[in-house]
Amino acid sequence: MYLLGIDIGTSGTKSVLFNEDGNAVASDLQEYPLYQPQNGWAEQDPEDWWAAVCASIKNVIAKSGISDIKGVGLSGQMHGLVMLDKDDRVIRKSIIWCDQRTGRECDEITDIIGEKRLIEITANPALTGFTASKIRWVQNNEPENYEKAAKIMLPKDYIRYMLTGEFATEVSDGSGMQLMDIAKRQWSGEVLQKLGIDRSLLGEMYESQEPTGRVTRRAAELTGLPEGTVVVGGAGDQAASAVGNGIVKSGIVSSTIGTSGVVFASMDKISIDPKGRVHTFCHAVPNMWHVMGVTQGAGLSLKWFRDNFCREEISVADSMQTDPYVLMDKIAETVPPLCDGVIYLPYLMGERTPHLDPYARGVFFGLSAKHTKAHLLRAVLEGVAFSLKDCLEIIREMGIEASQVRASGGGGRSAIWRRMQADLFGADVVTTTSSEGGALGVAILAGVGTGVYNSVAEACELIIKIKKVEKAGEADYTKNYKKYKKIYESLKDIFKEV
Ligand code: XUL
Repeated sequence: MYLLGIDIGTSGTKSVLFNEDGNAVASDLQEYPLYQPQNGWAEQDPEDWWAAVCASIKNVIAKSGISDIKGVGLSGQMHGLVMLDKDDRVIRKSIIWCDQRTGRECDEITDIIGEKRLIEITANPALTGFTASKIRWVQNNEPENYEKAAKIMLPKDYIRYMLTGEFATEVSDGSGMQLMDIAKRQWSGEVLQKLGIDRSLLGEMYESQEPTGRVTRRAAELTGLPEGTVVVGGAGDQAASAVGNGIVKSGIVSSTIGTSGVVFASMDKISIDPKGRVHTFCHAVPNMWHVMGVTQGAGLSLKWFRDNFCREEISVADSMQTDPYVLMDKIAETVPPLCDGVIYLPYLMGERTPHLDPYARGVFFGLSAKHTKAHLLRAVLEGVAFSLKDCLEIIREMGIEASQVRASGGGGRSAIWRRMQADLFGADVVTTTSSEGGALGVAILAGVGTGVYNSVAEACELIIKIKKVEKAGEADYTKNYKKYKKIYESLKDIFKEV
């Protein structure tokens, strides 16, 4: 018995086939372009996603020789706007999650609904990333396209539509559209009416583990999946990888360092930060919600440092056939914790949590002639760990317990980075045996929806095992963390002026 997880990401689509024990038996990645027609704009072609999905499923089936697939789960980049006309043709390229064109529309949405009411219903302030502001941008700037729209959907839900013919979404990804009443786990009539969006433009809302449809004959021909295979709701990429990391009960949170950094916790009851510094969404588990803090320049900071200051390490790593980040970790180890006073602020792309400040910028503070490149490198690691600590602090302020933190993403592979986090968080930081995050998460949901597992929690217990544990206690970073916070406060007005 096999389950298929499909993750429709920004750089490509990855399909992974798992057996009942959650072990990956075959996987395939198909890439596609990102279009940036203007500075700050980001678009993709839904037809590229569909072509990639078809090719990756076919390849997985060919590589494994297995087509007896019990269920399919879809994970996807969140927030993207896909619009189809009455004949199911894509009207324009999708405006995706990282597009920043909708500042004016966010102000309009806040004015129309009211800042407090918007947070009460949708659990978040209006943000450029979310779908509601993208819809409003089309209403304002391309009314002829809005007129033509018969269906509005998210990226992975377009794939569901192509696979099954069912027009549907599920609660975790739906939350990121900012059109839902997050406590009720349904579309908000009030928000839709105030923003002039007809309910018929949106799909049926499901829980993430529920079956939403079956693969059609045409999709079976294009993908190689058996006709009639069940497709469950699935999840937005963050909730999907949380399930794949076992973040489905209170007390366990995850810290993921990719380009950005995310601290993610699940909750039995809905809780909202009244200042909107962290996002609250429905979790991919019935009757659960999740909260996540996002720091913009996490892995990005280290990559920036590598590309600009570590040419030598890159070429040595190349000749040793190893990863430059492994050598960079060794260099960082030569400097003591607290970096002899150097502090780094990782705001290369502004910051979401906790400052919601697009003007913030990166800073090295406290340099003297005795400092070396190694100090700067370690300061980058510590600064990113401070920004993750900021996320966790707000989550703890909301009354959410975090006794174990599961590290994932590329940065989760670094032991020194995990140790810093353990010390700062005052909690064990662990890694797990699964590396397929999002695809595993939605394969688990597919297993629950088709009766292979009784519940998401039971499946996670069965499949996800702890690999390594870092304990707190190596160093006390409090002094530098306090200064880190003060430095931003002292600079925030200048950031805005600049
Ligand atoms: C979540 C978010 C990203 C995107 C793309 O709020 O913006 O995780 O889903 O990966």
